[in-house]
Amino acid sequence: VKTIAVLTGGGDAPGLNAVIRAVVRTALGQGLKVWGIKNGFGGMVENQLVELTNDSVAGILPRGGTILGTTNRDNPFHYPVVRDGQVIYEDLSGQALANLRQAGIEALVVIGGDGSLKIASEFYQLGLPVVAVPKTIDNDIPGTERTFGFDTAVGVAAEALDRLHTTAESHHRVMVLEVMGRYAGWIALHAGMAGGADCILLPEIPFSIDSVIAKIKERQQHGRQFSLIVIAEGAYPQGGEVSVSRIVEGSHEKIRLGGAGEKLARAIEQLTGVESRCTVLGHVQRGGTPTAFDRILSTRYGVAAAECVLEGAFGNMVALQKDRIIRRPIDDIAGKANNITADNELLRAGRSIGICFGD
Ligand code: F6P
Repeated sequence: VKTIAVLTGGGDAPGLNAVIRAVVRTALGQGLKVWGIKNGFGGMVENQLVELTNDSVAGILPRGGTILGTTNRDNPFHYPVVRDGQVIYEDLSGQALANLRQAGIEALVVIGGDGSLKIASEFYQLGLPVVAVPKTIDNDIPGTERTFGFDTAVGVAAEALDRLHTTAESHHRVMVLEVMGRYAGWIALHAGMAGGADCILLPEIPFSIDSVIAKIKERQQHGRQFSLIVIAEGAYPQGGEVSVSRIVEGSHEKIRLGGAGEKLARAIEQLTGVESRCTVLGHVQRGGTPTAFDRILSTRYGVAAAECVLEGAFGNMVALQKDRIIRRPIDDIAGKANNITADNELLRAGRSIGICFGD
């Protein structure tokens, strides 16, 4: 392989640029030519290529976002095109592959989450040599102990909790912090533990409002007139609706009812009479500079992905296991989820110190 391309797909995550930099520097160091594909898989269909040099990646290590641009809409196998004023979906994967062939690109590094991994796996099955790097602040990709971006998101959410703590205490309020995580509650669990939350509500454990109220009242009885609650955006009450998402034909369809945190704050206020406020952290937890941990993990992933290319080890996703970078077949991972299970050690630690998980 003499010429490769790299693309970033799906929602951005802090550390994307650090991965790009590491792929580019490693590949150039071994005499390869590297193209960047702009705007994710859409750019592959639209032939948006830019050559990446050492100068292109200079100074990008601490920068959030992605210098290549991204989108979580475009799937070449189901690509939106306008015909007669109507949007229809066509399979333009052949066009995308032809674009790469024309530029002499022999292998592709995909930096992406669950959606991108599925597309990468389809291209691999069509014969394109592919290597993947697991990206998402949600940490919900199987086969790896960490995705890059997660540590940064947790840090931002934990800092938000520290800030909410002092104002909650001053006003004797219940503060609800809604964090991202439609399907998995990793950010909520880790940020809640780091930020000393009293209740942590996860998509994996439908919560009982009674147990949340009981926790707030128990604290009041011990003289604590305020409480901090972290809720993942995908958490929902026992017997209640799944409020933000469902899986349709194997792919995630987004239903943006949202408002899990606000609904909870209103319910708490009604049931306890305690003033309650909700803060939705939103994309603040996805933007900005990556933590040192994420910069290092991203760099290790980028180097490992380039090494896969150099060794011809295609069809793999690089992954972290017991602090070592390993390789996992993309086909074993694509379309699968990594959720918090009842035996999760941090969940059990939370229970041991009296944190309410709403069950
Ligand atoms: O998967 C990453 C993520 O940030 C989720 O936590 C969140 O639900 C979703 O993306 C938000 O997507 P968008 O940026 O398209 O609103």
